[in-house]
Amino acid sequence: MRRYRAVVVGCGPRGERHARGLLAHPERFELVAVCDLDPARRETCARALGGVPAYADAAAMLAAAAADVLCFATPPAIRLPLVELGVAHGVRAIVLEKPLALTLTEAARILALGGGGTGIVVCHQLKYGAHWQRLKALVDAGELGEIQTIHATAQPSMLRVGTHLVDFLLWLRPSARPAWVLGQVDGSAAYGEDHPCPDHLAGVLAFDDGVHAILECGPLAPRRMPEDVWGDVAVAVHGSHGFARAVLGPGWEAVTRSTNGGRLVGPPDLAPQEPRLMADLAAWLDAPERGHSCHAGLAYQGLEVLLGMALSSLERRRVALPLDPAAVDPVLTRLQAVLA
Ligand SMILES: NC(=O)c1ccc[n+]([C@@H]2O[C@H](COP(=O)([O-])OP(=O)(O)OC[C@H]3O[C@@H](n4cnc5c(N)ncnc54)[C@H](O)[C@@H]3O)[C@@H](O)[C@H]2O)c1
Repeated sequence: MRRYRAVVVGCGPRGERHARGLLAHPERFELVAVCDLDPARRETCARALGGVPAYADAAAMLAAAAADVLCFATPPAIRLPLVELGVAHGVRAIVLEKPLALTLTEAARILALGGGGTGIVVCHQLKYGAHWQRLKALVDAGELGEIQTIHATAQPSMLRVGTHLVDFLLWLRPSARPAWVLGQVDGSAAYGEDHPCPDHLAGVLAFDDGVHAILECGPLAPRRMPEDVWGDVAVAVHGSHGFARAVLGPGWEAVTRSTNGGRLVGPPDLAPQEPRLMADLAAWLDAPERGHSCHAGLAYQGLEVLLGMALSSLERRRVALPLDPAAVDPVLTRLQAVLA
């Protein structure tokens, strides 16, 4: 089995999670170096990871590292230049944090770079959790009957947890195509953060088989876990013969064809999911034809849904998918002007 050389850019909490995900598979990955612009962050992180070399400059690190894999966990505005850098240095795969980009144009550029032969994975790792897998297993086994509606909610904004919510929706329904969206937004305080977007987004995603998903992300979403904003990430699936819901913090529950009206419940899987994403990455590098469940194409489609809802709010109309990036961008900036 081949062992892949990996480097990590961005030594914040997420970069360290990527690094630990790699280190969980010492037989598959060698963590060669880390990098951060901030000296204190890179030194602390490098020490915590067992004394790997730490760089200030990603280009210098890649020039020295002969890396197969570039992981980066930088703020959302820093995406395309690092993907270009990785491709220029010939890495075989890039794992980057969500959101894929802040505009569909940038996202499309990243996707095109991936089409040149570099595998690109976006860290939508939550779905590896056992309770999310249980939800999907119930749907796939037909335990809920014919799927009718899905309701996905979270307290953090569309660019923070909204991308995970749409990722769940697309992952649950791989054979249905997103056909159109309707959306509405509220509030502009989150534009002051490094994930610049409306505070709240509510929308409908219609799949081409007639199933509708209702998405609510932001502080106006119904609360499933009042005491934990970050654990309050919920997806409820309603079918002709049952109902199932997974919530990140508390776990899952279901009433299905087989329970005769009884309710099944299960705990959350609170283990870090990055090791599972990295295990899949090693398998994908071994055999690219098997694909990766967090491939960039899925993240692109998810961003398209979210930005389509934003466009719907801006132009007060139903928006058909897929979108032409040139006709959409820069929708979040245009919305900010309206909201302000
Ligand atoms: N997948 C998830 O569940 C999840 C959860 C939380 C956050 N995130 C995402 O992870 C990303 C990072 O989150 P974080 O909390 O670690 O952020 P952070 O801002 O704390 O850390 C980012 C680090 O990147 C460094 N950096 C920025 N540009 C750089 C460059 N060009 N070269 C080297 N270093 C650079 C910064 O100095 C900083 O230390 C965000 O996009 C966020 O949305 C994902």
